[in-house]
Amino acid sequence: MSEHVVHPVPEEWAKNALIDAETYAEKYRRSVEDPDGFWREEAQRIDWIKPFTKVNESSFDEDDFRVRWFEDGTLNLSANCLDRHLPEKAQDVAIIWEPDDPNTPNRIITYSQLHADTCRFANALKANGVKKGDRVTIYLPMVPEAAVAMLACARIGAVHSIVFAGFSPEALCGRIQDCQSDIVLTADEGLRGGKKVPLKANVDAALEKVPVRRVIVLHHTGADVPMVEGRDVWWYDEIEEQNAQCEPEEMGAEDPLFILYTSGSTGKPKGVLHTTGGYAVWTAMTHEYTFDYRPNQVYWCAADIGWVTGHSYVVYGPLANGAITLMFEGVPNYPDFSRFWQVVDKYQVEIFYAAPTALRALMREGDEWVKKTCRKSLRLLGSVGEPINPEAWEWYHKVVGDGRCPIVDTWWQTETGGHMITPLPGATDLKPGSASMPFFGVQPAIVDPASGEVLEGACEGALIITDSWPGQMRTVYGDHERFFQTYFSQYPGSYFTGDGCRRDEDGYYWITGRIDDVINVSGHRMGTAEIESALVEHDKVAEAAVVGMPHDIKGQGIYAYVTTTAGTEDTEELRQDLIQWVRREIGPIATPDVLQFAPSLPKTRSGKIMRRILRKIAANDTGNLGDTSTLADPDVVEHLLANRPG
Ligand code: WTA
Repeated sequence: MSEHVVHPVPEEWAKNALIDAETYAEKYRRSVEDPDGFWREEAQRIDWIKPFTKVNESSFDEDDFRVRWFEDGTLNLSANCLDRHLPEKAQDVAIIWEPDDPNTPNRIITYSQLHADTCRFANALKANGVKKGDRVTIYLPMVPEAAVAMLACARIGAVHSIVFAGFSPEALCGRIQDCQSDIVLTADEGLRGGKKVPLKANVDAALEKVPVRRVIVLHHTGADVPMVEGRDVWWYDEIEEQNAQCEPEEMGAEDPLFILYTSGSTGKPKGVLHTTGGYAVWTAMTHEYTFDYRPNQVYWCAADIGWVTGHSYVVYGPLANGAITLMFEGVPNYPDFSRFWQVVDKYQVEIFYAAPTALRALMREGDEWVKKTCRKSLRLLGSVGEPINPEAWEWYHKVVGDGRCPIVDTWWQTETGGHMITPLPGATDLKPGSASMPFFGVQPAIVDPASGEVLEGACEGALIITDSWPGQMRTVYGDHERFFQTYFSQYPGSYFTGDGCRRDEDGYYWITGRIDDVINVSGHRMGTAEIESALVEHDKVAEAAVVGMPHDIKGQGIYAYVTTTAGTEDTEELRQDLIQWVRREIGPIATPDVLQFAPSLPKTRSGKIMRRILRKIAANDTGNLGDTSTLADPDVVEHLLANRPG
């Protein structure tokens, strides 16, 4: 039904936007018919030290496999985000920082201050022995110093690896180990919704298993935290004597910029590696066109810097464009459910970008929390991270945007660096729930998941991208073979996204969600395999299978089936224990919503767990379990159905 609801481009937008419908069609055509010429021009939005001569040197074929853009050019992304704005914008605002508690003083940071802070910290990193190519682990809350740390790494050519500050010591440890980083940047504590997060204590716990050379600690809440002699130093002591000038390192376009760990369908999280030139072009360009960004507009992306959205659309994209980017430390429901909209009013935010899960949670609390704020400054709304259901879309549009603001529903991934399928507000008629049309240079296709045959016209299947784009990840850190296997082996010659997708008669794309063993909980990506391996590490667990289940607010919830070891009694206490265990092992975002004891799991005769059936049971969609003829023991399913909790 929702396919037929169309919100046409508002007249004002069609007239004034950077990209109108005609320009979109023309530019898109050029981007695929003359990619070389197209990218040569678009890449000029970045200041190159040495101009590139080569454009796209990528190949998805196994024999010749590589992803490379602008390869012989050199640049520095920190200089692109800071130095080049100084002649005209030194006193303009770069970052507005809104603290967790509205009564704590905010911070307004100009481009000139951000430049000085970045240089000082870059010099401090050098003084602490960090060199070009070294990996720096960042475990910081949403404070301006997190952006400073990223930019300082980029300035000296160090590779940052940010670990979301909600992850456990265990998860942090694994990520430090994997990229062999010997320095960690953290804070005494984080603060979210009035609750303290023991960041330094988590780092200490992680470092029991993986010692590092240096920990730089930011004084944030002022908590009394123990400092390890010879290893731990205070952030402010380190920058105090440092010069506010630091020459940016000349980086090759394909030199690494950052690693960000993300969940896949198997094994441990993988270190997604992004490089400098293509990523800079892609994030700056998508930020400008998708958000129709114009100088001096206040722009707010509510994502945490621990996720790719924070990397690309809180820090790099907006700062490369000289934008005013708002950084919010808090949560949508603290001190109350009006907080987002109060912040919008406080700073006259024009562009607001958030995840559907937050919108669904706020929608449930009623319209009053929104309506008592003004929100007249808003002109554009964005959605990211998971499919937005039409009901939440309409609420966002009607209640938050007073029916006035287009919504850009941006589909993309950690791997893609930036937006891939998204409306452009002045060009695309909107259909609630559809990410709509490909961005410039993106060539999506839908294939039959089983045969790999490319489907035409209106169809549904697996979403692939048939050619490279500048923001694409370059490798899995330390495991190039895994990069190829994960993304390019299923449908040879194409990048496989892991998402299911439908295309309608008008050519609009509708992302239907993951079709691999990745689940998306409140817009946070989790591998079911990771949660399973956390569970089986418990000494009372023999086997575990985890699947996603539909959840009204989170989009997906976590449903865990656990077979305990022989002789163990499946008590309520153990159930709670196991739930807490996962929470501790990975982090609060991985807490199972449902945990069901399963004396045995449904398996094929060859011993493969039939997840399709587990998903149906979890969804309580038990009328149609599909083909169960390959089950080794059909009684197992009956037992699970009869004992479904709740
Ligand atoms: C999902 C977040 C539908 C999708 C930027 C993808 C979406 C995964 C959308 C990547 C959207 C992201 N509509 N689904 N607009 N945006 N997704 O790596 O399943 O954390 O594969 O990147 O989120 O999650 P990731």
